[in-house]
Amino acid sequence: MRPYTLIAPAKINLYLEIIGDRPDGYHELVMVMQSVSLADVVQLRANGTDRFRVSCDHPQVPTDASNLAYRAAKQMAEQFPEAFRRFGGADLSIQKHIPVGAGLAGGSTDAAAVLVGLDLMWNLGLTQEEIQELGAQLGSDVPFCVTGGTAIATGRGEQLSPLPPLDRLYVVLAKYRSLSVSTPWAYQAYRQQFSQTYVRDDHSLEGRRQRVHSGPMVTAISHQDGEAIGKLLHNDLEKVVLPAYPPVKQLRQAMADLSKLGGMMSGSGPTVFALAETPAEAANIHQAIRTRFADPDLEIWTAQFCATGIKPVES
Ligand code: C5P
Repeated sequence: MRPYTLIAPAKINLYLEIIGDRPDGYHELVMVMQSVSLADVVQLRANGTDRFRVSCDHPQVPTDASNLAYRAAKQMAEQFPEAFRRFGGADLSIQKHIPVGAGLAGGSTDAAAVLVGLDLMWNLGLTQEEIQELGAQLGSDVPFCVTGGTAIATGRGEQLSPLPPLDRLYVVLAKYRSLSVSTPWAYQAYRQQFSQTYVRDDHSLEGRRQRVHSGPMVTAISHQDGEAIGKLLHNDLEKVVLPAYPPVKQLRQAMADLSKLGGMMSGSGPTVFALAETPAEAANIHQAIRTRFADPDLEIWTAQFCATGIKPVES
C-alpha cells in the first residue's frame, strides 16, 4: 500500500468573540477562521502491525497516546473496525513547521490530516462533513482544519459556514520559541473575569451569531478588502493573555504599528500576526520586527492566506 503525504495548514483567527458558556464546560464562540500557508507535513505509511506509531521531528510534540494525531487514528480504527482489520496500523510521521502551543491549531491540523489520510488509505469514501464530524470529537478546531479556507465558526468552533476565499493577503507571524499559552487556562481566566458579560438565553446567543454573519467583517471578506479586514480584527482572549504576558503585548503592539492593515494575537496565543497586502510589505514587516526585537528566542514566519485545508500531495 502506498504511503500518503498530506499538507496540513495552520489557521489564524481574524475574529474571536466569546459570547457565553456551554453546558459541556466549553464556551459559545463566534469566530472567523483563516487558513495560512505555514503548514506541517503528515505522512501515513501502513506498517503491517495492528498499531499506530507516531514520530515527529519536534522535541516538544508527544509521540504517545496523548498526541491528537494518534487519537485521530485510534478513533478511525474504532469507527471503521473492518477497514482497520483489513489494512492494519500505520506509522504517522509529522514534520513540524507550525509552532507548538501557539494558537495556530498545529495539533488540530495534524489530527485532521490523519482523518483525511486514513479515509484515503482505507478507501472509505467519506464526505468532508463526515470527516468533520469525526474531527469534532477530537477538538474544536479540527473540523475547520479539514476544509480550511475562510469560514465563520460558531458553537464550540465546530459549526462552520464557509466564506468566499481570501487568498490575496499575506501574514507575518511571530512567537517566542520558549513561550506557550495553555488554551484551557486562557478560557478559564476569561470566564473568571468576564462571565458577567456572557449572553445566556438562546435568542440573544442567536442574535450575537447573526451580528457576525451579516456584519462588516463578512462584507469586508467578500470584497477582499484588506484594509477593512485589518480594522475589524478582534480577539476577546487578548484581554486575558496580553496582560499576563507583557512580551507578547509588546510584540502585538509592534505588529499592529508596523502593518498598514493591522495585527493581532491568534486564538489563545501567544502567536501574534500582522497582515500585509503584498509580499514586499510582508518582507518589510518581517525585517522590522527582526531588527526591533533582536532576540534569538523570537521566531518569525511569513505566510500567505490559503483557500484550502488538508491537501494530499500527489505522488
Ligand atoms: O476543543 P479543544 O480541545 O481544542 O479546546 C481546548 C480547551 O479550550 C478546552 O479544554 C477548553 O478549556 C477551551 N475551549 C473552550 N471553549 C471552546 C473551545 C475551547 O472553553 N469553544
